[in-house]
Amino acid sequence: MILRLATPEAIADAAEHIAEGRLVAFPTETVYGLGADATNSRAIAAVFAAKGRPVFNPLIVHVASFEAAERLAEFSPAARNLAKAFWPGPLTLVLPRRSDCPVADLATAGLDTIAIRVPDHPVARVLLKATGRPIAAPSANRSGHVSATRAEHVAADLEGRVAMILDGGPTAHGLESTVLDISGSAHYETGDAPLMLRPGAITAEQIEAVTGQLLWRAFDAEEQPASHPTSPGQLASHYAPRAAVRLNATDVAPGEALLAFGTPALLTTGPVINLSPTGDLMEAAANLFAALRALDASGAKTIAVMPIPERSLGEAINDRLRRAAAPRP
Ligand code: TXA
Ligand code: MG
Repeated sequence: MILRLATPEAIADAAEHIAEGRLVAFPTETVYGLGADATNSRAIAAVFAAKGRPVFNPLIVHVASFEAAERLAEFSPAARNLAKAFWPGPLTLVLPRRSDCPVADLATAGLDTIAIRVPDHPVARVLLKATGRPIAAPSANRSGHVSATRAEHVAADLEGRVAMILDGGPTAHGLESTVLDISGSAHYETGDAPLMLRPGAITAEQIEAVTGQLLWRAFDAEEQPASHPTSPGQLASHYAPRAAVRLNATDVAPGEALLAFGTPALLTTGPVINLSPTGDLMEAAANLFAALRALDASGAKTIAVMPIPERSLGEAINDRLRRAAAPRP
């Protein structure tokens, strides 16, 4: 039985698996992570194999505290401020790697930067404390699939490829962390201003309120600075369900499933999931991936998606939906 309720005993067993180089899927406040000892390059290689992910993509390294993060990366005063404001929480900071950083080069794809966050989830935090080492964890789904927000989704994607799945129930945010590059190295155009590499659970407005600086954004493929590494979240067709996805739908064709937002929803006799009947973007984010999976499972060939406002968390929701709708490779 690899799917286990996240009891203290199960978390202790999971920590042992990680210490011995095996993979454990665990809940965070954003999505489930596929965790491995970040200092063990064989374990990291196993993560790439389990995900079916191209090896040049760097992983997020999770730590239990700011102090643990300081042992891995250099923090500028601006970076420290952001960490103090948002950790624990769904903000990933891309920082210069310390020269004595013990994280395997494979986990950071050989870059001189490292992506770090302190997750805000009791199971993740107990697991990190119990292992006493950084845990590299991409989202716990097969590469290109929708991220997993429930333990059963992880099992559907990764059964047989992980030593254990810790079940901590559905995740609170339902969207991955926001990835912010404040390494000051990768962006020739932005000077020292923070560069948002992936919109996510922390909004641009929230970050700007702390830094007092306008954010640069690099996740539009066309605006991608040439010097910056491609990240999987930036692949156009990432987050793809099996069904085709049609955005900004104003009607529903026969045979289509409907991903609705707000009230009234479009009329249809087919399968419908409303991300938030009241038009609440937080609720919509939390429901997004599970809704895409469920509509996919309905067997519909196409999922029609009602328009979602681009403000606040809508930016990250629309980013995921545009990727889901992008032409497949
Ligand atoms: O919410 C989340 O962030 C989840 C949970 C499990 O923490 N994790 C997650 O990891 O979404 P993953 O591997 O699916 O996405 C990591 C993102 C990718 O877009 C990756 O390219 C970027 O972070 N990234 C990691 N290291 C980087 C670096 N050194 N420079 C630039 N981007 C980096
Ligand atoms: Mg992912």
